[in-house]
Amino acid sequence: MAIKGLGIDEFKEILKENLTPAKAISSPEHLKGRQKVLTQIDRSFNSQGKHIFIYGDRGVGKTSLAQTAAFLQQSADSSPILVTCGGAPFLSTVRDAVRSALPAGNATSQKKVEHKLKAGVGGFGYDFTRTLTSGVVPPVESINDAIHLLKFVGECHSKEPVIIFDEFDQLADDAQKKACAEVIKQVSDQAVKVRFILCGIGTSLEDLIGVHLSTGRYLSPVPLERLTQDARWEIIKAAAKAVGVTVATNFLMRIGQISDGFPSYVHLMGEQLLWTMFDDDEVTGHCQQRHFAQGVGLAVKEAETTLKIIYEKATQKHSDTYQEVLWALADKHSLRRQTTEVYEKSYLPIMAERHGRKTLSKRVFSDRLNKLKTAGHGEIVVPKGAGWYEFKENIVRGYVRLRAENDGVHLGAEGYA
Ligand SMILES: Nc1ncnc2c1ncn2[C@@H]1O[C@H](COP(=O)(O)OP(=O)(O)OP(=O)(O)O)[C@@H](O)[C@H]1O
Ligand SMILES: [Mg+2]
Repeated sequence: MAIKGLGIDEFKEILKENLTPAKAISSPEHLKGRQKVLTQIDRSFNSQGKHIFIYGDRGVGKTSLAQTAAFLQQSADSSPILVTCGGAPFLSTVRDAVRSALPAGNATSQKKVEHKLKAGVGGFGYDFTRTLTSGVVPPVESINDAIHLLKFVGECHSKEPVIIFDEFDQLADDAQKKACAEVIKQVSDQAVKVRFILCGIGTSLEDLIGVHLSTGRYLSPVPLERLTQDARWEIIKAAAKAVGVTVATNFLMRIGQISDGFPSYVHLMGEQLLWTMFDDDEVTGHCQQRHFAQGVGLAVKEAETTLKIIYEKATQKHSDTYQEVLWALADKHSLRRQTTEVYEKSYLPIMAERHGRKTLSKRVFSDRLNKLKTAGHGEIVVPKGAGWYEFKENIVRGYVRLRAENDGVHLGAEGYA
């Protein structure tokens, strides 16, 4: 035990509570840097018939925001309903939502619902009510079926039910998006007592839902940006405080910069750094360079396998010079960068510190960068006009930074958001 006053069980409990690299958040206390957006959602929901659509990069924190907002907006008599869209038709996802909203298995709640609905609320028939309260949801074959069932949820689940439809981008095709748009429209027009929060990976609402809801009357768009530096630091500071240690500003800054604003990396580095401190032979109350370095190394090992595969596919080809090319592109704040600028401002300075490594000429560097967009390299980067590039997925930039840091190369030093 190397953190004063903490046994392993207590330490594990605190860590699990504060650092969640693989789990979405659902409480405002742990959701850092999103107060403004939570207020925006609160105001949109205050407008009758409005629903929310959260969109942004993979891993930026969409589900966490949706869950936290849903818990705040959902009336206290129940929990929000969460369903994930997949390849299945949208109407069957509505059916899943209805199923999880039912009081099945809880005899007291079942009785309450039956009693309420028998008293005439909602005008649902006796058989229909009995079937549903026993947990059987009839197939949803039309928009009307969906609306009828959602009205039932509006009456029986709670005073103000909130339903999250997560991973909207996974819907199979345009027909499914259209079905979703129609359900939203009918729910609003018929004043059904349920409110939706939708989430999806994308850069615009139009991209995600197409033109069907382009009037924007029913949906309030919430574009989600990467976390600010302050919010990144807050995650570590809160966890460090909870275990009774301090992490100096220079380490907070480095973690913030490496993460590139993607919270899972902050959680991951924080978790590994605190474990390193806990495992230290000396009793310690302050994070030191060796804890930081070892924590980063462990974070690389613990990172998502899909990210490792993407990185390795891009860099392990014919020559070992791709890593440094990729690191150079992941440096600096701008997501979209021009070849000459990357070469001069990032690649050459990186190579100046890499003693014993071969520095590529500008021509070979351009060629390598260009190859990273090909299928052979997993299309890790995409071209953005002549000589301009960016990462296909911004979350991968954070992983590239983590790998570079682990090799002693500090990227993104001026990366203030
Ligand atoms: N505002 C925040 N403050 C602290 N941690 C956060 C915040 N938002 C998200 N996280 C953490 O970041 C990670 C990713 O969050 P989340 O799953 O919500 O992202 P996502 O955008 O839904 O990802 P995906 O695109 O993969 O579905 C989780 O580990 C979560 O705990
Ligand atoms: Mg998500």
